[in-house]
Amino acid sequence: MHSYLACFKAACRARYDIHDVLYNCPKCDGLLEAQYERGSVDAAAWKHLWRERRMDNAPLNQSGVWRYREMFPFLDDLSHVVTLREGNTPLLDGPRAAQYGGLARVTFKHQGFNPTGSFKDNGMTAGAAQARRLGMKRVACVSTGNTSASMAAYASAGGLDPLIFIPHGNISYGKLAQALEYGAKTFQVEANFDQILALVRTLAERLGIYLLNSINPFRIEGQKSIVIEMMDQRDWKVPDWIVLPGGNLGNVSAFGKGLREMLELGLIDKLPRLGVVQAKGASPFYEYMAAHAAKPFHAEMNPETLATAIRIGDPVSWPKAQFEIDTSKGVVERVTEQEIADAKAIVGRCGIGCEPASAATLAGIRKLTAAGVIDREADVVAVLTGNVLKDPDYIFKYHTGQLQAPGGIAILPTFGNKPIVVANDADRLATLIG
Ligand code: F0G
Repeated sequence: MHSYLACFKAACRARYDIHDVLYNCPKCDGLLEAQYERGSVDAAAWKHLWRERRMDNAPLNQSGVWRYREMFPFLDDLSHVVTLREGNTPLLDGPRAAQYGGLARVTFKHQGFNPTGSFKDNGMTAGAAQARRLGMKRVACVSTGNTSASMAAYASAGGLDPLIFIPHGNISYGKLAQALEYGAKTFQVEANFDQILALVRTLAERLGIYLLNSINPFRIEGQKSIVIEMMDQRDWKVPDWIVLPGGNLGNVSAFGKGLREMLELGLIDKLPRLGVVQAKGASPFYEYMAAHAAKPFHAEMNPETLATAIRIGDPVSWPKAQFEIDTSKGVVERVTEQEIADAKAIVGRCGIGCEPASAATLAGIRKLTAAGVIDREADVVAVLTGNVLKDPDYIFKYHTGQLQAPGGIAILPTFGNKPIVVANDADRLATLIG
């Protein structure tokens, strides 16, 4: 099996060796992707093999990423893999959320069940494997929090030194705490995500550090496993829609690539439509697509949202995301801070819970059903990207009516659930309980 890197730009398609340390095409600066020269594939045999592996105790087969390794065969030696048994995330029904979202039924694919609590683990296990295969010693990323938590864990588990760069004061404590606990050298830079990414790209080149942001094509290969596992869990029945939040737009790029490849290989019989949801204060991709990509892509210089995971104004993967939205006849939506906060409380009431950025998914579905874009009876998988405990501060403030959107605008606790402070008095408690 021959694997190589290719420029994503249709007009270029230059090829590079799979061992080259590249993040952009040296010829045209386009994004890169991993490609494979495959012989003929027996789709039924692969499906059977992947089911068998679920019953197997070998670490790679227990991983919900590497179980599907035939779909991203870029390694010739699997001993480079670091696995924390990532993936294996459930499909969950949320009847209350379905009703709120204007649907007869909705299924959540909850990536917050990953080892470090977000979908980043699906990609990081692949990126860390490539770093080890290349003999890299130090790895780095810029992050709004989840990538850094994940990279810190996988690097430390795999004997690499993690260096992380985060916007000072704008990531949740849960995520920062993870990075510290997993042993990453952590720099809180006084700049926003987009500015720090530009800085770190220069530093990585100068110091020979391997960059593990989602611009890294191997991260994208690992994240394909989210939709592959989703189809496996659905017995290969393709939903009408897959809806997910969009920040740097790596995940939608990975979903689109994974789905197209499954279609080409005969594993599925059609493409689902992709729905990407952005926070209104950080929605450059929404703006671009709403104008039918007629004007040049325009970065948002001051992105603002309490959903800090998606507080990104200059998403690197927008050309890939545009291609995947167009190919799948998808849509891009955006939602307000209030819509995110209320949708998040509803996901919580389902007994499921998620972090703010993930709740953009349900908020977006609610808008898209109201607008008649998604049909009430449609088969919809809503991807929740991060765990409820990633940002407890946001939760406490919402339920106690103290949450404020950027600019000081109060967020109403529409579904608030305030804790009750009470004296040590049985009668008083009995009255309150009712
Ligand atoms: N949801 C969560 C919880 C995230 O952490 C992110 C991205 C996204 C959605 C958006 O995904 O960037 O692929 O479009 N977090 C990155 C980080 C940027 O640094 O952790 P995307």
